[in-house]
Amino acid sequence: MIFFVFLLKKVLYLCDIFYKNEPIMRNFLIFSYLIFVSLFASCINAKETSSILVTDLTCEYLTNPLNVDVLQPRLAWKIIQSETAKKGQRQTAYQIIVASSLELLNSNTGDIWCTGKVKSSQSIQVTYEGRELETMQNCWWKVRVWNNKGEVSQWSEPAYWKVGIIDPRRWLGEWIGGKPDEALREYKEYVAENHRRRDFDRNRWMNPPTLPSPLLRKSFNAENSVVRATLYASALGYYKFWINGERVGDQLHAPEWTNYFDFVQYQTFDLTEKINNGENVIAATLADGWALGRLGGIKWFRFFPHRGFYALDRRLTAQLALEMSDGTVKIIPTDQTWKIIEDGYILEADNFAGQTIDARKIPQGWNNTGFDDTGWENVFVDKNETRNLVAQKNEPIRVHAELKPVRIWRVDDRYFADFGQNIAGHCALKIKGSSGQIITLRHAEWLEENGELYTRSLGYARAIDTFILSGDDDYFAPEFTYHGFQYVEVSGLDFPLTEDMIVARAVSSDPAVTGSFESSNPQLNQLFSNIYWTQRNNMYSIITDNPSRDERTGAAGDIQIFAQSSIFNMNMAAFFTKYIRDFRDVAPNGQFFSMIPSLRFEGFWDGWIGAPGWCEAGLIVPWRMYENYADVRALENLYSEMKTHIDATRRENPDLIWRNRHNHNNDWLNANTIRNPPDPTYSNRRGGTPDNVFATIFFAAATSMLTDIAKVLNQNADAAHYGALADSIKAKFRQEFIDENGLIQGDSQGAYSMALHYGLFPEHLREMAFEHLVRCIHEYDYRLSTGFISTPLMMQLLADYGRVDIAYRLLESTRFPSWLYQVTLGATTVWERWDAWTPENGFRDDTMNSFDHVPFGAVVEWMYKNILGINLDVKYPGYERFTIQPRPGGTLNWARGSYNSIRGEIRSAWKIENGVFTLEVEIPFNSTATIILPDGKKHKAGSGKHVFKAKM
Ligand code: BGC
Repeated sequence: MIFFVFLLKKVLYLCDIFYKNEPIMRNFLIFSYLIFVSLFASCINAKETSSILVTDLTCEYLTNPLNVDVLQPRLAWKIIQSETAKKGQRQTAYQIIVASSLELLNSNTGDIWCTGKVKSSQSIQVTYEGRELETMQNCWWKVRVWNNKGEVSQWSEPAYWKVGIIDPRRWLGEWIGGKPDEALREYKEYVAENHRRRDFDRNRWMNPPTLPSPLLRKSFNAENSVVRATLYASALGYYKFWINGERVGDQLHAPEWTNYFDFVQYQTFDLTEKINNGENVIAATLADGWALGRLGGIKWFRFFPHRGFYALDRRLTAQLALEMSDGTVKIIPTDQTWKIIEDGYILEADNFAGQTIDARKIPQGWNNTGFDDTGWENVFVDKNETRNLVAQKNEPIRVHAELKPVRIWRVDDRYFADFGQNIAGHCALKIKGSSGQIITLRHAEWLEENGELYTRSLGYARAIDTFILSGDDDYFAPEFTYHGFQYVEVSGLDFPLTEDMIVARAVSSDPAVTGSFESSNPQLNQLFSNIYWTQRNNMYSIITDNPSRDERTGAAGDIQIFAQSSIFNMNMAAFFTKYIRDFRDVAPNGQFFSMIPSLRFEGFWDGWIGAPGWCEAGLIVPWRMYENYADVRALENLYSEMKTHIDATRRENPDLIWRNRHNHNNDWLNANTIRNPPDPTYSNRRGGTPDNVFATIFFAAATSMLTDIAKVLNQNADAAHYGALADSIKAKFRQEFIDENGLIQGDSQGAYSMALHYGLFPEHLREMAFEHLVRCIHEYDYRLSTGFISTPLMMQLLADYGRVDIAYRLLESTRFPSWLYQVTLGATTVWERWDAWTPENGFRDDTMNSFDHVPFGAVVEWMYKNILGINLDVKYPGYERFTIQPRPGGTLNWARGSYNSIRGEIRSAWKIENGVFTLEVEIPFNSTATIILPDGKKHKAGSGKHVFKAKM
């Protein structure tokens, strides 16, 4: 204190000398000095508190990522407060230290970045602004925060990120593999030349030959001065690595699916603990994967070559970086010194076809030291191969659950197992039989009436795994394929199949689960579980339409309508960051594709350009990233493509009614597509929405959304331009399709729902339009007639316009068609069609009938928003402010659940007892929520736990 007073005297003295005649300057200086002193004092005096804890440090949404190739990565953290801490806390400042080693970090030396105390409430999307990052740099970091009580937290636990290969010249691995695959080349040429001929040979076209998986290995020496070993790896096709006989990482299906023409991901693995002093062996094998394997559904592009879409040869590229104690780095790249045998023990591997493994052919110890590889050849180095390598941005695909059979039974000499849950993945078998014995596994989601597997719907996805036994103890895990299944049929056994021999391994992209839900209606709880599993089963680095039949592509309508649901269920931030990059590949006319990655094949098929309601995923998914995670980069990264898309749609439709379409799906699988309703009172005529109505709603919706995006990005001229365009489209729409009584052309549940949701009705007609919607539901005797796109929109409108009772009636109904109808029939995932299977009519279709489709599962968004009541506020993205407004109804007398938002856990639990509604909520640090109770009363709540009551 004495020191500051002394300093103040000196400042006044100097002011008097220099600014005697300039009182303004003098006062300014004194004022600045006082601010400095108070800031300094608050920093020094801040009391350290252990009642708040900084946790969950992430870099680019990932925990301790090993390969960040973003030059200015975004950091984030969460803050949790102890039970006894004061409620309503906020962060008022933070300090970050980034150091090149843990030692420096521990001594608080931020040689890479030290922010000092930054007055800010920002705890997410904090852009790194330190020293320019270098390839393979190690970045250790920690953070501490100040709260609004003037206290400072302790430093967080150290976190880490490693910079990827941001300088492409530092990627030294060459593309290596076997000799060029002439058969695949011949096949592709054959299809190209002959696909238009009448006598086109379908069999040859359907079953191009596949090669066995090659085995590759490289032996090298290391000294004990290795302080860190990092493997960077990628491939065309799938790859798997071993180091000294041990599997590297747990990632499956690497390098995962991208538009490989645009970029291929590489993965990074920490091998520091695995390197021997002396000889080491790094080994790998390859399979077709998405780059070369069968892709796409047969039904919608007949003449598409089904293999070799992105590449004709399986290729591996990698480098092992050994960081030495003297600071040097030794690189062991893939090059001509690697050894190969081309006929490995995996005889065939394909996502659709399945995998065949011959255990007799596994060379003992081939992937470890001490193996004699003199008979092996040198690899082929493919000098022509070049791809754009990009660090993987999303969580790996891996086994996320293992399921034991709930029932095993025998039919003739075959065994069947039921795992009790429809999953995507494969079965692993632990078995000992006779050498050469062939065991075959067939997979299906459902059973036929006669007890056989229902595989008719799989198209050319054979879904058969074959294991040839060695005669010794064998373990088979066909990790280069995947199937959608609940049931497996095992044949070839001459001894019983037992529970300990088989396990179903559920595989998917593996971000953290963020949502939970439970209520007094057990069937709703089962539905919640079904939706969760459906999401899991379709997350294979993209969101697929289904995991079972010969399609498994990124149907963009499915993604856009399920995006918010998926975000509630799981932390989709990194997943979508990766996936949005695939969206950049726009069609030649400028529109977004409706399948992403597009599978466009020059000269064969346009790959689904611009289907309304589907292609807008290119705007909707980034917008969800912004709403939920305050991610502005997601918008920036696709902004120019969004504009091109709208401009192209406008150019092709000068009168602003979207008539000129390249594709059209309308409100997919609405009532009109139900061929033979099991209930004769159900009409299959009134579900549709006229094509031009449907399409123009989405033209208007996307243009409005682009206007909002332009505003966020401060593109004011664009905002004005697209805002005016959106108004004109809406005006034109009203003129063409809406009458003065609020009646819309089509007069269907779907038409009203979509037009109301996207603001196509003028203000004065909205209530009337909503009444028409209610009438349409009434005409269906309170059953759905809506399709993929309109169903969740209708549910939300019912809640917003005060008819939550109808929404509950639809949600809890067990009559056909409904969510709980499926549940009562034993569904464990969400079906593609309302009538996928009915007791009256059996299976609906053989070509398009999956039991594992996300779109109708989008009702879970309604459950989070209305039963739990968790609603974001787009004006304060990333849950800075939000609302909790549970809307009790239906049969429910209690519900509880949570959403772990980007700022932390939000909880909502309510019950109704003796006419009193009691709500317990938990609000994360750095957030404020408005609580709206069923009696209409509003309360504000800051961080911490709160209880509210209302009379019902
Ligand atoms: C897919 C759907 C998709 C639709 C659109 C289907 O084959 O399975 O989920 O949205 O095609 O055309």
